[in-house]
Amino acid sequence: MKVVIVGGGLAGLVTAWRLGQTGCDVTVIDPAPGTGASSVAGGMLAPVSEAWFGEEDRLALDLASHSLWRQFANELEADSGLEIGFKTEGTIQFAFNQDDLRDLARTREFQLSLGLDAVELSGAEVRVLEPFLSPNVLGASLVKSDHSVDNRALVIALITACEARGVEFIREKAISIEFETISDDSNVRAVTTEMQLIPASQVVIAAGAWSSQIVGAESLDVRPIMGEVIRVAPRSGAAATITHTIRGTVRGFPVYLVPRAKGEIVIGATQLETGFDIQPTAGGIFQLLRDAREVFPYLSEMRIVEIMAGLRPGSPDNAPLLGPIANHGGLYAATGHYRNGVLLTPATGDVMLAYLTGGTVPEYARAFTPERFTSLSGARG
Ligand code: GLY
Repeated sequence: MKVVIVGGGLAGLVTAWRLGQTGCDVTVIDPAPGTGASSVAGGMLAPVSEAWFGEEDRLALDLASHSLWRQFANELEADSGLEIGFKTEGTIQFAFNQDDLRDLARTREFQLSLGLDAVELSGAEVRVLEPFLSPNVLGASLVKSDHSVDNRALVIALITACEARGVEFIREKAISIEFETISDDSNVRAVTTEMQLIPASQVVIAAGAWSSQIVGAESLDVRPIMGEVIRVAPRSGAAATITHTIRGTVRGFPVYLVPRAKGEIVIGATQLETGFDIQPTAGGIFQLLRDAREVFPYLSEMRIVEIMAGLRPGSPDNAPLLGPIANHGGLYAATGHYRNGVLLTPATGDVMLAYLTGGTVPEYARAFTPERFTSLSGARG
């Protein structure tokens, strides 16, 4: 069996690693593995603080992946010999005014009704945990189970672990999927890049926001949703910083601050639907700096390390597309992870391994095949 994975972001890499562990012949095609949305992400593993009203089905998938994370991190660190910055301090969802407090109380009620953990904190209690947050923070929820990981370290560890397991990387751009015949229900036989044709018995489309740009995979209902982030670091030596992920809204605009090693912080993230443009916007960066400084005033003293934008792969229901693509034998998707690509990395690996090797697909993932959209619209690949 020869599996070709189109896309070397987290979804493609974790699938390759899991297959590589079984001794399978795996090739990843990507001009620059790990440099897309996977390297721009905040790295939050936050099913509770990202639980939205009306998305309870997806929450079950998020929670399932979350429960795999500790073991996954240990296994990957052992296999790659690299640390991935898995942090378990938790997340603080802050409130600046009475409206925010009411909103937080409502969210907490929803979270608790689903059996999730969220503890109310007063402003004074927040500052015991995070002394450098603004005195204007009136209160918060503490979600201890919402963790984080250094997504860039994660990408490097996965590439390293893949290489150690014999996964081949072809650093070229995939153009199209080739089928055995031109009939609509034909099996895959290869992937074509700008340079060559790579034979395959199974193909996984894991090209994030670009997934439906691959000829032969146009039926995938995935679109780009830009997110801008800023990385900041202390100017010198010991400095004020944060230890928890801090998130909330400032005058209605969402903002999060995710701590990294050595006092670095990742600030994110905006949402813009501007096609495949990944130039950060002045307005987005201004908004993030303005709002992050409001909650963490010391930000003014920090130096800017990087300003970036990435394209989240959005789907019509904000949930991923994991599994066989209708009508084409051997063609699969692992894409559409939207805001949860990092959180869903362990589950994506397990689920795709099961689909590709004929194993038992975990119950939590069965509702998330790409067919849920193609059968609605009648679209064909
Ligand atoms: N999960 C964080 C983001 O997409 O911004």
